[in-house]
Amino acid sequence: MRKKIFSGVQPTGNLHLGNYLGAIKNFVKLNNEDQNECVFCVVDLHAITVAQDPKKLKENIYETVATFIASGINPEKSIIFNQSKVSAHSETAWILSCVARMGWLNRMTQFKEKAGKDKEKASIGLYSYPVLMAADILLYDTTHVPVGDDQKQHLELCRDIAQKFNNDFNVGDFFKLPEPLIQKEFSRIMSLRDGTKKMSKSESSDLSRINLTDDKDQIVNKIKKAKTDPLPMPSSLEDLNNRPEAKNLIGIYSSLNDFTLEKTVKEFSEKNFSDFKKILSDVCVEKIEPISNKIKKLLNEKNYIDKILSEGSKKAEDIASKKIKNIKEIVGF
Ligand code: AMP
Ligand code: TRP
Repeated sequence: MRKKIFSGVQPTGNLHLGNYLGAIKNFVKLNNEDQNECVFCVVDLHAITVAQDPKKLKENIYETVATFIASGINPEKSIIFNQSKVSAHSETAWILSCVARMGWLNRMTQFKEKAGKDKEKASIGLYSYPVLMAADILLYDTTHVPVGDDQKQHLELCRDIAQKFNNDFNVGDFFKLPEPLIQKEFSRIMSLRDGTKKMSKSESSDLSRINLTDDKDQIVNKIKKAKTDPLPMPSSLEDLNNRPEAKNLIGIYSSLNDFTLEKTVKEFSEKNFSDFKKILSDVCVEKIEPISNKIKKLLNEKNYIDKILSEGSKKAEDIASKKIKNIKEIVGF
Protein backbone atom coordinates (compact mmCIF):
# COMPACT_ATOMS: atom_id res chain seq x y z
CA MET A 1 0.00 0.00 0.00
CA ARG A 2 1.19 3.50 -0.83
CA LYS A 3 1.56 5.37 2.44
CA LYS A 4 1.63 9.13 2.89
CA ILE A 5 4.00 9.63 5.78
CA PHE A 6 4.33 12.81 7.82
CA SER A 7 6.34 13.36 10.98
CA GLY A 8 7.93 16.23 12.82
CA VAL A 9 10.88 16.77 15.14
CA GLN A 10 11.38 19.88 17.25
CA PRO A 11 14.65 21.75 16.68
CA THR A 12 15.37 22.02 20.39
CA GLY A 13 18.91 20.58 20.41
CA ASN A 14 20.37 17.43 22.00
CA LEU A 15 18.74 14.94 19.64
CA HIS A 16 19.34 11.63 21.35
CA LEU A 17 19.17 7.86 21.12
CA GLY A 18 15.47 7.96 22.12
CA ASN A 19 14.65 10.20 19.16
CA TYR A 20 16.64 7.88 16.92
CA LEU A 21 15.24 4.53 18.10
CA GLY A 22 11.71 5.82 18.78
CA ALA A 23 11.24 7.82 15.60
CA ILE A 24 14.05 8.63 13.15
CA LYS A 25 15.12 5.01 12.53
CA ASN A 26 11.55 4.31 11.49
CA PHE A 27 11.51 7.41 9.21
CA VAL A 28 14.51 5.94 7.38
CA LYS A 29 12.85 2.56 6.97
CA LEU A 30 9.64 4.09 5.61
CA ASN A 31 11.64 6.40 3.35
CA ASN A 32 13.42 3.37 1.88
CA GLU A 33 10.14 1.74 0.85
CA ASP A 34 9.82 3.00 -2.70
CA GLN A 35 6.08 3.45 -2.85
CA ASN A 36 5.84 5.82 0.15
CA GLU A 37 5.60 9.60 -0.01
CA CYS A 38 7.44 11.04 2.96
CA VAL A 39 7.34 14.50 4.51
CA PHE A 40 9.71 15.21 7.41
CA CYS A 41 9.18 18.54 9.09
CA VAL A 42 11.45 20.49 11.41
CA VAL A 43 8.74 21.92 13.65
CA ASP A 44 10.20 25.28 14.60
CA LEU A 45 6.78 26.75 15.44
CA HIS A 46 6.37 24.02 18.05
CA ALA A 47 9.85 24.73 19.42
CA ILE A 48 8.95 28.30 20.45
CA THR A 49 6.13 27.12 22.72
CA VAL A 50 8.89 27.27 25.33
CA ALA A 51 11.44 30.11 25.24
CA GLN A 52 14.30 29.63 22.75
CA ASP A 53 17.46 31.62 22.14
CA PRO A 54 17.02 32.77 18.50
CA LYS A 55 20.66 32.10 17.56
CA LYS A 56 20.56 28.60 19.05
CA LEU A 57 17.21 27.90 17.42
CA LYS A 58 18.70 28.62 14.02
CA GLU A 59 21.66 26.31 14.76
CA ASN A 60 19.29 23.61 16.01
CA ILE A 61 17.26 23.76 12.79
CA TYR A 62 20.47 22.99 10.85
CA GLU A 63 21.36 20.25 13.31
CA THR A 64 17.96 18.58 13.00
CA VAL A 65 18.17 18.48 9.20
CA ALA A 66 21.78 17.23 9.44
CA THR A 67 20.59 14.47 11.79
CA PHE A 68 17.86 13.39 9.37
CA ILE A 69 20.35 13.06 6.54
CA ALA A 70 23.14 11.55 8.63
CA SER A 71 20.67 8.91 9.87
CA GLY A 72 19.90 7.90 6.30
CA ILE A 73 16.88 9.92 5.16
CA ASN A 74 17.24 10.59 1.46
CA PRO A 75 16.44 14.24 0.66
CA GLU A 76 15.86 13.32 -3.00
CA LYS A 77 13.13 10.90 -2.01
CA SER A 78 11.38 12.93 0.68
CA ILE A 79 10.30 16.45 1.50
CA ILE A 80 12.37 17.99 4.30
CA PHE A 81 11.38 21.51 5.33
CA ASN A 82 10.84 23.77 8.29
CA GLN A 83 7.31 24.46 9.39
CA SER A 84 7.56 28.25 9.68
CA LYS A 85 8.33 28.49 5.93
CA VAL A 86 4.84 27.26 4.99
CA SER A 87 2.24 29.66 6.37
CA ALA A 88 -0.65 27.22 5.83
CA HIS A 89 0.44 25.45 9.04
CA SER A 90 -0.30 28.48 11.23
CA GLU A 91 -3.46 29.35 9.33
CA THR A 92 -4.85 25.83 9.59
CA ALA A 93 -3.92 25.64 13.27
CA TRP A 94 -6.09 28.71 13.95
CA ILE A 95 -9.07 27.29 12.09
CA LEU A 96 -8.71 23.92 13.83
CA SER A 97 -8.42 25.63 17.21
CA CYS A 98 -12.00 26.79 16.61
CA VAL A 99 -13.01 23.15 16.03
CA ALA A 100 -11.09 21.50 18.91
CA ARG A 101 -12.72 21.66 22.35
CA MET A 102 -11.13 22.89 25.59
CA GLY A 103 -12.19 19.64 27.27
CA TRP A 104 -10.15 17.64 24.77
CA LEU A 105 -7.01 19.72 25.26
CA ASN A 106 -7.41 19.66 29.03
CA ARG A 107 -6.77 15.94 28.93
CA MET A 108 -3.35 16.18 27.24
CA THR A 109 -0.76 14.69 29.58
CA GLN A 110 2.24 16.21 27.77
CA PHE A 111 0.95 19.72 28.53
CA LYS A 112 0.55 18.80 32.19
CA GLU A 113 4.11 17.43 32.30
CA LYS A 114 5.68 20.33 30.43
CA ALA A 115 3.72 23.07 32.17
CA GLY A 116 4.61 21.62 35.58
CA LYS A 117 3.14 23.06 38.75
CA ASP A 118 2.72 26.61 37.55
CA LYS A 119 0.26 26.16 34.69
CA GLU A 120 -0.71 29.85 34.77
CA LYS A 121 2.76 30.73 33.51
CA ALA A 122 2.80 28.29 30.57
CA SER A 123 2.44 29.86 27.13
CA ILE A 124 -0.87 29.57 25.31
CA GLY A 125 1.13 27.99 22.49
CA LEU A 126 2.22 25.15 24.76
CA TYR A 127 -1.45 24.49 25.54
CA SER A 128 -2.62 24.55 21.92
CA TYR A 129 0.50 22.73 20.65
CA PRO A 130 -1.44 19.55 19.69
CA VAL A 131 -3.78 21.58 17.47
CA LEU A 132 -0.81 22.86 15.44
CA MET A 133 0.40 19.26 15.25
CA ALA A 134 -3.01 18.22 13.88
CA ALA A 135 -2.73 20.98 11.25
CA ASP A 136 0.72 19.67 10.22
CA ILE A 137 -0.62 16.19 9.68
CA LEU A 138 -3.99 16.99 8.07
CA LEU A 139 -2.62 19.46 5.51
CA TYR A 140 -0.80 16.63 3.71
CA ASP A 141 -3.64 14.04 3.63
CA THR A 142 -1.29 11.94 5.76
CA THR A 143 -2.15 8.26 6.12
CA HIS A 144 0.59 7.27 8.61
CA VAL A 145 2.50 9.13 11.31
CA PRO A 146 5.65 7.47 12.72
CA VAL A 147 6.30 8.72 16.27
CA GLY A 148 7.46 7.62 19.69
CA ASP A 149 5.00 6.45 22.29
CA ASP A 150 4.72 9.89 23.94
CA GLN A 151 2.84 11.28 20.89
CA LYS A 152 0.05 8.71 20.89
CA GLN A 153 -2.46 10.93 22.68
CA HIS A 154 -1.75 13.84 20.32
CA LEU A 155 -2.52 11.60 17.36
CA GLU A 156 -5.82 10.52 18.86
CA LEU A 157 -6.68 14.18 19.30
CA CYS A 158 -5.74 14.83 15.67
CA ARG A 159 -8.21 12.17 14.56
CA ASP A 160 -10.94 13.67 16.76
CA ILE A 161 -10.36 17.13 15.32
CA ALA A 162 -10.41 15.80 11.73
CA GLN A 163 -13.61 13.88 12.39
CA LYS A 164 -15.35 16.86 14.00
CA PHE A 165 -14.37 19.18 11.14
CA ASN A 166 -15.66 16.65 8.58
CA ASN A 167 -18.95 16.32 10.50
CA ASP A 168 -19.47 19.99 11.37
CA PHE A 169 -19.07 21.06 7.74
CA ASN A 170 -20.55 17.89 6.28
CA VAL A 171 -17.58 17.26 4.01
CA GLY A 172 -17.30 13.45 4.05
CA ASP A 173 -13.68 12.44 4.45
CA PHE A 174 -12.13 15.78 3.46
CA PHE A 175 -9.61 15.35 6.26
CA LYS A 176 -8.14 11.85 6.22
CA LEU A 177 -7.88 10.14 9.61
CA PRO A 178 -4.17 9.29 10.09
CA GLU A 179 -2.88 6.06 11.66
CA PRO A 180 -0.10 6.29 14.22
CA LEU A 181 2.96 4.12 13.54
CA ILE A 182 4.35 3.40 16.98
CA GLN A 183 6.80 0.54 17.38
CA LYS A 184 5.59 -2.23 19.62
CA GLU A 185 8.70 -2.83 21.65
CA PHE A 186 11.04 0.15 21.66
CA SER A 187 8.78 3.18 21.42
CA ARG A 188 9.93 4.67 24.72
CA ILE A 189 13.65 4.80 25.54
CA MET A 190 14.32 5.74 29.15
CA SER A 191 16.96 7.86 30.87
CA LEU A 192 20.29 6.12 31.53
CA ARG A 193 20.21 7.52 35.06
CA ASP A 194 16.62 6.63 35.94
CA GLY A 195 14.77 3.87 34.14
CA THR A 196 11.37 5.30 35.11
CA LYS A 197 11.93 8.61 33.28
CA LYS A 198 11.88 9.15 29.52
CA MET A 199 15.22 9.94 27.85
CA SER A 200 14.82 13.64 27.18
CA LYS A 201 16.54 16.56 25.46
CA SER A 202 15.88 18.85 28.38
CA GLU A 203 17.12 16.66 31.27
CA SER A 204 19.92 18.62 32.94
CA SER A 205 22.28 15.64 33.33
CA ASP A 206 23.97 14.90 30.01
CA LEU A 207 24.78 11.42 31.40
CA SER A 208 21.05 10.61 31.16
CA ARG A 209 21.13 10.41 27.36
CA ILE A 210 23.31 9.47 24.42
CA ASN A 211 23.28 12.43 22.08
CA LEU A 212 23.50 11.70 18.38
CA THR A 213 26.48 14.06 18.28
CA ASP A 214 28.40 12.23 21.03
CA ASP A 215 31.81 10.82 20.13
CA LYS A 216 33.11 7.36 20.95
CA ASP A 217 34.55 8.26 24.37
CA GLN A 218 31.36 9.99 25.47
CA ILE A 219 29.24 7.02 24.43
CA VAL A 220 31.48 4.51 26.21
CA ASN A 221 31.55 6.64 29.36
CA LYS A 222 27.77 7.09 29.45
CA ILE A 223 27.08 3.38 29.07
CA LYS A 224 29.66 2.63 31.75
CA LYS A 225 27.94 5.04 34.15
CA ALA A 226 24.41 3.92 33.21
CA LYS A 227 22.40 2.87 36.26
CA THR A 228 21.74 -0.85 36.74
CA ASP A 229 20.57 -2.95 39.67
CA PRO A 230 22.63 -5.30 41.85
CA LEU A 231 21.13 -8.54 40.47
CA PRO A 232 22.60 -10.54 37.57
CA MET A 233 21.04 -10.03 34.12
CA PRO A 234 17.41 -11.19 33.86
CA SER A 235 16.72 -14.74 32.76
CA SER A 236 13.17 -14.30 31.43
CA LEU A 237 10.90 -11.59 30.05
CA GLU A 238 8.87 -11.60 33.30
CA ASP A 239 12.11 -10.95 35.13
CA LEU A 240 12.25 -7.56 33.36
CA ASN A 241 9.18 -6.32 35.24
CA ASN A 242 10.14 -4.03 38.10
CA ARG A 243 13.68 -3.74 36.75
CA PRO A 244 13.34 -0.59 34.65
CA GLU A 245 17.06 0.07 34.12
CA ALA A 246 17.79 -3.51 33.04
CA LYS A 247 14.77 -3.46 30.74
CA ASN A 248 15.89 -0.20 29.15
CA LEU A 249 19.48 -1.27 28.45
CA ILE A 250 18.32 -4.61 27.06
CA GLY A 251 15.77 -2.72 24.95
CA ILE A 252 18.43 -0.38 23.57
CA TYR A 253 20.70 -3.31 22.69
CA SER A 254 17.83 -5.18 21.02
CA SER A 255 16.59 -2.20 19.07
CA LEU A 256 20.06 -1.25 17.78
CA ASN A 257 20.56 -4.82 16.56
CA ASP A 258 16.97 -5.38 15.40
CA PHE A 259 16.68 -8.27 17.86
CA THR A 260 13.62 -9.12 19.94
CA LEU A 261 13.83 -8.56 23.69
CA GLU A 262 13.41 -12.28 24.12
CA LYS A 263 16.50 -13.09 22.07
CA THR A 264 18.63 -10.63 24.03
CA VAL A 265 17.36 -11.86 27.38
CA LYS A 266 18.30 -15.41 26.39
CA GLU A 267 21.72 -14.34 25.15
CA PHE A 268 22.70 -12.60 28.40
CA SER A 269 20.69 -14.61 30.92
CA GLU A 270 22.33 -14.55 34.41
CA LYS A 271 25.50 -12.85 33.08
CA ASN A 272 26.79 -9.79 34.88
CA PHE A 273 26.05 -6.27 33.76
CA SER A 274 29.65 -5.20 33.33
CA ASP A 275 30.25 -7.72 30.51
CA PHE A 276 26.95 -6.80 28.88
CA LYS A 277 27.76 -3.10 29.08
CA LYS A 278 30.99 -3.60 27.13
CA ILE A 279 29.13 -5.32 24.33
CA LEU A 280 26.33 -2.73 24.47
CA SER A 281 28.78 0.14 24.21
CA ASP A 282 30.47 -1.49 21.19
CA VAL A 283 27.11 -1.66 19.40
CA CYS A 284 26.22 1.91 20.37
CA VAL A 285 29.55 3.15 19.06
CA GLU A 286 29.21 1.12 15.87
CA LYS A 287 25.73 2.53 15.13
CA ILE A 288 25.93 6.06 16.53
CA GLU A 289 29.51 7.17 15.83
CA PRO A 290 29.06 7.22 12.02
CA ILE A 291 25.89 9.31 12.44
CA SER A 292 27.67 11.66 14.81
CA ASN A 293 30.61 12.11 12.41
CA LYS A 294 28.28 12.76 9.51
CA ILE A 295 26.25 15.34 11.45
CA LYS A 296 29.46 17.24 12.24
CA LYS A 297 30.52 17.13 8.60
CA LEU A 298 27.13 18.32 7.35
CA LEU A 299 27.12 21.21 9.81
CA ASN A 300 30.07 22.57 7.84
CA GLU A 301 27.98 22.45 4.69
CA LYS A 302 25.20 24.86 5.59
CA ASN A 303 24.65 25.86 1.95
CA TYR A 304 23.72 22.28 1.20
CA ILE A 305 21.26 22.22 4.12
CA ASP A 306 19.79 25.58 3.04
CA LYS A 307 19.25 24.13 -0.42
CA ILE A 308 17.45 21.08 0.96
CA LEU A 309 15.20 23.26 3.12
CA SER A 310 14.37 25.70 0.35
CA GLU A 311 13.55 22.96 -2.15
CA GLY A 312 11.59 21.11 0.54
CA SER A 313 9.54 24.12 1.51
CA LYS A 314 8.62 24.77 -2.13
CA LYS A 315 7.31 21.24 -2.48
CA ALA A 316 5.51 21.40 0.88
CA GLU A 317 4.01 24.77 -0.04
CA ASP A 318 2.64 23.27 -3.26
CA ILE A 319 0.71 20.62 -1.35
CA ALA A 320 -0.31 22.70 1.67
CA SER A 321 -1.47 25.77 -0.26
CA LYS A 322 -4.01 23.69 -2.19
CA LYS A 323 -5.39 22.15 0.99
CA ILE A 324 -5.68 25.47 2.86
CA LYS A 325 -7.50 26.97 -0.13
CA ASN A 326 -10.12 24.21 0.17
CA ILE A 327 -10.28 24.57 3.95
CA LYS A 328 -11.01 28.28 3.58
CA GLU A 329 -13.73 27.63 1.05
CA ILE A 330 -15.34 25.05 3.33
CA VAL A 331 -15.46 27.40 6.33
CA GLY A 332 -16.91 30.20 4.18
CA PHE A 333 -14.01 32.64 3.82
P1 AMP B 1 10.78 15.72 19.90
O1 AMP B 1 12.23 15.80 20.11
O2 AMP B 1 9.98 15.90 21.15
O3 AMP B 1 10.30 16.57 18.78
O4 AMP B 1 10.50 14.22 19.46
C1 AMP B 1 10.80 13.74 18.16
C2 AMP B 1 10.37 12.29 18.05
O5 AMP B 1 11.13 11.47 18.93
C3 AMP B 1 8.90 12.04 18.42
O6 AMP B 1 8.33 11.11 17.52
C4 AMP B 1 8.98 11.48 19.81
O7 AMP B 1 7.88 10.65 20.12
C5 AMP B 1 10.27 10.68 19.75
N1 AMP B 1 10.89 10.55 21.09
C6 AMP B 1 11.33 11.56 21.89
N2 AMP B 1 11.86 11.07 23.04
C7 AMP B 1 11.77 9.71 22.96
C8 AMP B 1 12.15 8.63 23.83
N3 AMP B 1 12.74 8.85 24.99
N4 AMP B 1 11.89 7.36 23.41
C9 AMP B 1 11.30 7.14 22.21
N5 AMP B 1 10.92 8.10 21.35
C10 AMP B 1 11.14 9.38 21.70
N1 TRP C 1 4.87 16.88 18.82
C1 TRP C 1 5.91 16.12 18.21
C2 TRP C 1 7.00 15.85 19.25
O1 TRP C 1 7.26 16.61 20.11
C3 TRP C 1 6.50 16.83 17.02
C4 TRP C 1 5.51 17.05 15.92
C5 TRP C 1 4.99 18.23 15.52
C6 TRP C 1 4.95 16.05 15.10
N2 TRP C 1 4.14 18.06 14.47
C7 TRP C 1 4.09 16.73 14.18
C8 TRP C 1 5.09 14.67 15.03
C9 TRP C 1 3.35 16.04 13.23
C10 TRP C 1 4.34 13.98 14.06
C11 TRP C 1 3.49 14.66 13.17
O2 TRP C 1 7.65 14.88 19.18
